[in-house]
Amino acid sequence: MSQNGSRVEQTLELFRGIRPTVLPSLLLCDFANLQREVQRLEEAGVEALHLVVMDGHFVPNLTYVMPIVESLRKITTLKLDVHLMISSPKNYAPAFVQAGADMITFHIEAEPQPSRLLNEIRSMGAAAGLAINPSTPMENLLPFVKECDVVLVMSVQAGFGGQAFNPIALERLKELRNNYGSELLLEVDGGVNCQSTPAVTSHGADLLVVGSAIFREADYCQAMTRLRCSFKSFGTPTDA
Ligand code: DX5
Repeated sequence: MSQNGSRVEQTLELFRGIRPTVLPSLLLCDFANLQREVQRLEEAGVEALHLVVMDGHFVPNLTYVMPIVESLRKITTLKLDVHLMISSPKNYAPAFVQAGADMITFHIEAEPQPSRLLNEIRSMGAAAGLAINPSTPMENLLPFVKECDVVLVMSVQAGFGGQAFNPIALERLKELRNNYGSELLLEVDGGVNCQSTPAVTSHGADLLVVGSAIFREADYCQAMTRLRCSFKSFGTPTDA
Protein backbone atom coordinates (compact mmCIF):
# COMPACT_ATOMS: atom_id res chain seq x y z
CA MET A 1 0.00 0.00 0.00
CA SER A 2 1.28 3.50 -0.85
CA GLN A 3 2.19 5.96 1.88
CA ASN A 4 -0.93 7.98 1.08
CA GLY A 5 -3.04 4.83 1.09
CA SER A 6 -1.82 3.92 4.55
CA ARG A 7 -2.49 7.47 5.72
CA VAL A 8 -6.11 7.09 4.62
CA GLU A 9 -6.41 3.73 6.36
CA GLN A 10 -4.89 5.15 9.54
CA THR A 11 -7.49 7.93 9.58
CA LEU A 12 -10.35 5.52 8.94
CA GLU A 13 -9.17 3.07 11.59
CA LEU A 14 -8.99 5.89 14.12
CA PHE A 15 -12.52 7.07 13.38
CA ARG A 16 -13.88 3.50 13.33
CA GLY A 17 -12.21 2.86 16.68
CA ILE A 18 -13.63 5.86 18.54
CA ARG A 19 -17.20 5.93 17.19
CA PRO A 20 -19.63 7.25 18.09
CA THR A 21 -17.72 10.42 18.74
CA VAL A 22 -18.35 14.16 18.73
CA LEU A 23 -16.57 16.46 16.29
CA PRO A 24 -16.78 20.16 17.18
CA SER A 25 -17.72 22.24 14.17
CA LEU A 26 -15.43 25.28 13.91
CA LEU A 27 -18.02 27.79 12.82
CA LEU A 28 -19.21 29.36 16.09
CA CYS A 29 -15.86 29.27 17.90
CA ASP A 30 -13.75 32.29 18.89
CA PHE A 31 -11.56 32.76 15.82
CA ALA A 32 -9.75 35.63 17.52
CA ASN A 33 -8.30 32.99 19.85
CA LEU A 34 -8.22 29.90 17.66
CA GLN A 35 -5.19 28.26 19.29
CA ARG A 36 -6.72 28.63 22.72
CA GLU A 37 -10.01 27.24 21.41
CA VAL A 38 -8.22 24.15 20.06
CA GLN A 39 -6.38 23.70 23.36
CA ARG A 40 -9.67 23.91 25.28
CA LEU A 41 -11.20 21.31 22.96
CA GLU A 42 -8.18 19.03 23.35
CA GLU A 43 -8.48 19.39 27.15
CA ALA A 44 -12.13 18.39 26.77
CA GLY A 45 -10.97 15.15 25.14
CA VAL A 46 -12.04 15.97 21.60
CA GLU A 47 -10.58 13.52 19.08
CA ALA A 48 -11.08 15.39 15.79
CA LEU A 49 -12.18 18.78 14.45
CA HIS A 50 -14.84 19.50 11.81
CA LEU A 51 -13.92 22.45 9.60
CA VAL A 52 -16.67 24.13 7.60
CA VAL A 53 -15.65 25.72 4.29
CA MET A 54 -18.35 27.92 2.77
CA ASP A 55 -18.02 29.88 -0.49
CA GLY A 56 -21.05 32.23 -0.38
CA HIS A 57 -22.31 30.56 -3.57
CA PHE A 58 -23.14 26.94 -2.82
CA VAL A 59 -24.38 28.19 0.56
CA PRO A 60 -25.38 31.78 1.44
CA ASN A 61 -22.52 32.12 3.93
CA LEU A 62 -18.76 32.60 3.86
CA THR A 63 -16.19 31.12 6.21
CA TYR A 64 -12.53 30.25 5.76
CA VAL A 65 -10.19 28.42 3.40
CA MET A 66 -6.79 26.73 3.15
CA PRO A 67 -4.74 29.13 5.37
CA ILE A 68 -6.90 28.30 8.39
CA VAL A 69 -6.44 24.59 7.72
CA GLU A 70 -2.68 25.09 7.39
CA SER A 71 -2.61 27.04 10.67
CA LEU A 72 -4.61 24.37 12.49
CA ARG A 73 -2.34 21.66 11.07
CA LYS A 74 0.63 23.37 12.71
CA ILE A 75 -0.93 23.55 16.19
CA THR A 76 -2.78 20.26 16.62
CA THR A 77 -2.45 16.56 15.87
CA LEU A 78 -6.22 16.12 15.99
CA LYS A 79 -7.70 14.73 12.77
CA LEU A 80 -9.03 17.53 10.55
CA ASP A 81 -12.34 16.68 8.91
CA VAL A 82 -13.02 19.28 6.21
CA HIS A 83 -16.58 19.78 4.93
CA LEU A 84 -16.60 21.60 1.60
CA MET A 85 -19.82 23.55 1.17
CA ILE A 86 -18.60 24.99 -2.12
CA SER A 87 -19.76 24.94 -5.74
CA SER A 88 -16.56 23.69 -7.35
CA PRO A 89 -15.07 21.07 -5.02
CA LYS A 90 -12.95 19.53 -7.78
CA ASN A 91 -11.10 22.83 -8.16
CA TYR A 92 -10.22 23.13 -4.48
CA ALA A 93 -10.33 19.76 -2.68
CA PRO A 94 -6.69 18.88 -3.55
CA ALA A 95 -5.49 22.16 -2.03
CA PHE A 96 -7.28 21.33 1.22
CA VAL A 97 -5.58 17.95 1.35
CA GLN A 98 -2.24 19.66 0.80
CA ALA A 99 -3.15 22.15 3.56
CA GLY A 100 -3.49 19.26 6.00
CA ALA A 101 -7.01 17.83 5.80
CA ASP A 102 -7.27 14.20 6.92
CA MET A 103 -10.79 13.69 5.60
CA ILE A 104 -12.80 15.65 3.06
CA THR A 105 -16.50 15.60 2.30
CA PHE A 106 -18.05 17.51 -0.57
CA HIS A 107 -21.66 17.83 -1.64
CA ILE A 108 -23.30 15.56 -4.20
CA GLU A 109 -25.35 18.62 -5.16
CA ALA A 110 -22.12 20.37 -6.24
CA GLU A 111 -20.56 17.36 -8.01
CA PRO A 112 -23.19 14.96 -9.39
CA GLN A 113 -20.44 12.69 -10.86
CA PRO A 114 -18.12 12.45 -7.81
CA SER A 115 -16.14 9.28 -8.52
CA ARG A 116 -13.04 10.88 -9.96
CA LEU A 117 -12.76 13.46 -7.16
CA LEU A 118 -13.32 10.85 -4.45
CA ASN A 119 -10.43 8.84 -5.86
CA GLU A 120 -8.22 11.90 -6.31
CA ILE A 121 -8.69 12.94 -2.66
CA ARG A 122 -7.85 9.43 -1.47
CA SER A 123 -4.82 9.18 -3.74
CA MET A 124 -3.48 12.31 -2.04
CA GLY A 125 -3.80 10.72 1.42
CA ALA A 126 -7.14 11.92 2.79
CA ALA A 127 -10.29 9.90 3.40
CA ALA A 128 -13.11 10.97 1.09
CA GLY A 129 -16.86 11.14 1.20
CA LEU A 130 -20.06 12.79 0.10
CA ALA A 131 -22.42 15.13 1.93
CA ILE A 132 -26.13 15.44 1.19
CA ASN A 133 -28.60 18.16 2.17
CA PRO A 134 -32.03 17.26 3.60
CA SER A 135 -33.79 18.59 0.48
CA THR A 136 -31.80 16.41 -1.93
CA PRO A 137 -33.19 12.97 -2.89
CA MET A 138 -31.08 10.06 -1.64
CA GLU A 139 -31.30 8.60 -5.14
CA ASN A 140 -28.70 11.18 -6.18
CA LEU A 141 -26.22 9.81 -3.64
CA LEU A 142 -26.87 6.08 -3.40
CA PRO A 143 -25.05 5.04 -6.62
CA PHE A 144 -21.80 6.42 -5.15
CA VAL A 145 -21.96 5.27 -1.51
CA LYS A 146 -19.76 2.24 -2.21
CA GLU A 147 -17.01 4.65 -3.34
CA CYS A 148 -17.19 6.63 -0.08
CA ASP A 149 -15.22 6.24 3.14
CA VAL A 150 -17.80 8.45 4.86
CA VAL A 151 -21.26 9.82 4.11
CA LEU A 152 -22.22 13.11 5.76
CA VAL A 153 -25.97 13.23 6.27
CA MET A 154 -26.99 16.84 6.84
CA SER A 155 -29.74 17.32 9.42
CA VAL A 156 -30.00 20.99 8.49
CA GLN A 157 -29.66 22.78 5.18
CA ALA A 158 -25.92 23.51 4.99
CA GLY A 159 -24.83 27.06 5.70
CA PHE A 160 -25.49 28.10 9.27
CA GLY A 161 -25.15 26.89 12.86
CA GLY A 162 -27.96 26.99 15.41
CA GLN A 163 -30.67 25.50 13.17
CA ALA A 164 -33.24 22.93 14.31
CA PHE A 165 -32.55 19.23 13.75
CA ASN A 166 -34.41 17.77 10.74
CA PRO A 167 -35.49 14.18 11.53
CA ILE A 168 -35.26 13.16 7.87
CA ALA A 169 -31.61 12.52 8.73
CA LEU A 170 -32.67 9.60 10.95
CA GLU A 171 -34.32 7.71 8.10
CA ARG A 172 -31.26 8.30 5.94
CA LEU A 173 -28.82 7.17 8.63
CA LYS A 174 -30.85 4.01 9.20
CA GLU A 175 -31.06 3.28 5.46
CA LEU A 176 -27.31 3.66 5.03
CA ARG A 177 -26.44 1.69 8.16
CA ASN A 178 -28.79 -1.15 7.23
CA ASN A 179 -27.60 -1.38 3.61
CA TYR A 180 -23.86 -0.82 3.89
CA GLY A 181 -21.16 -2.44 5.97
CA SER A 182 -19.89 -1.15 9.28
CA GLU A 183 -16.74 0.05 7.52
CA LEU A 184 -18.72 2.97 6.07
CA LEU A 185 -18.52 5.91 8.44
CA LEU A 186 -21.79 7.79 8.90
CA GLU A 187 -21.56 11.44 9.89
CA VAL A 188 -24.43 13.72 10.87
CA ASP A 189 -24.34 17.49 11.05
CA GLY A 190 -26.79 20.14 12.14
CA GLY A 191 -28.86 20.57 15.28
CA VAL A 192 -27.00 17.74 17.00
CA ASN A 193 -27.26 18.18 20.78
CA CYS A 194 -28.11 16.25 23.94
CA GLN A 195 -31.71 15.92 22.79
CA SER A 196 -30.97 14.53 19.32
CA THR A 197 -27.82 12.45 19.99
CA PRO A 198 -29.66 9.35 21.30
CA ALA A 199 -31.67 9.14 18.08
CA VAL A 200 -28.79 9.81 15.70
CA THR A 201 -26.54 7.22 17.39
CA SER A 202 -29.29 4.60 17.64
CA HIS A 203 -29.91 5.09 13.91
CA GLY A 204 -26.26 4.44 13.12
CA ALA A 205 -24.35 7.72 13.21
CA ASP A 206 -20.64 7.38 13.99
CA LEU A 207 -19.42 10.99 13.77
CA LEU A 208 -21.59 13.62 15.42
CA VAL A 209 -20.81 17.14 14.25
CA VAL A 210 -21.73 19.67 16.92
CA GLY A 211 -21.56 23.45 16.84
CA SER A 212 -23.78 25.47 19.14
CA ALA A 213 -24.21 22.72 21.75
CA ILE A 214 -20.48 23.17 22.44
CA PHE A 215 -19.57 26.73 21.49
CA ARG A 216 -22.54 28.36 23.17
CA GLU A 217 -21.37 26.78 26.45
CA ALA A 218 -18.80 28.48 28.71
CA ASP A 219 -17.15 25.18 29.68
CA TYR A 220 -16.27 22.89 26.78
CA CYS A 221 -15.39 20.00 29.13
CA GLN A 222 -18.87 20.11 30.65
CA ALA A 223 -20.47 20.40 27.21
CA MET A 224 -18.54 17.40 25.89
CA THR A 225 -19.32 15.36 29.01
CA ARG A 226 -23.02 16.09 28.68
CA LEU A 227 -22.97 15.16 24.99
CA ARG A 228 -21.10 11.91 25.62
CA CYS A 229 -23.46 10.95 28.45
CA SER A 230 -26.46 11.72 26.23
CA PHE A 231 -25.62 8.90 23.81
CA LYS A 232 -23.30 6.53 25.68
CA SER A 233 -26.24 5.38 27.78
CA PHE A 234 -27.87 4.25 24.54
CA GLY A 235 -25.04 1.85 23.68
CA THR A 236 -24.41 0.60 20.15
CA PRO A 237 -26.76 1.31 17.24
CA THR A 238 -29.91 -0.75 17.21
CA ASP A 239 -32.44 -1.24 14.41
CA ALA A 240 -34.76 1.16 16.21
C1 DX5 B 1 -23.80 24.13 9.04
C2 DX5 B 1 -22.48 23.50 9.45
C3 DX5 B 1 -22.58 22.83 10.79
C4 DX5 B 1 -22.89 23.77 11.90
C5 DX5 B 1 -23.42 22.95 13.07
O1 DX5 B 1 -23.85 24.27 7.67
O2 DX5 B 1 -22.11 22.54 8.50
O3 DX5 B 1 -21.37 22.15 11.08
O4 DX5 B 1 -21.75 24.48 12.30
O5 DX5 B 1 -23.90 23.84 14.02
P1 DX5 B 1 -25.08 23.37 15.03
O6 DX5 B 1 -24.52 22.18 15.77
O7 DX5 B 1 -25.27 24.57 15.89
O8 DX5 B 1 -26.25 23.01 14.19
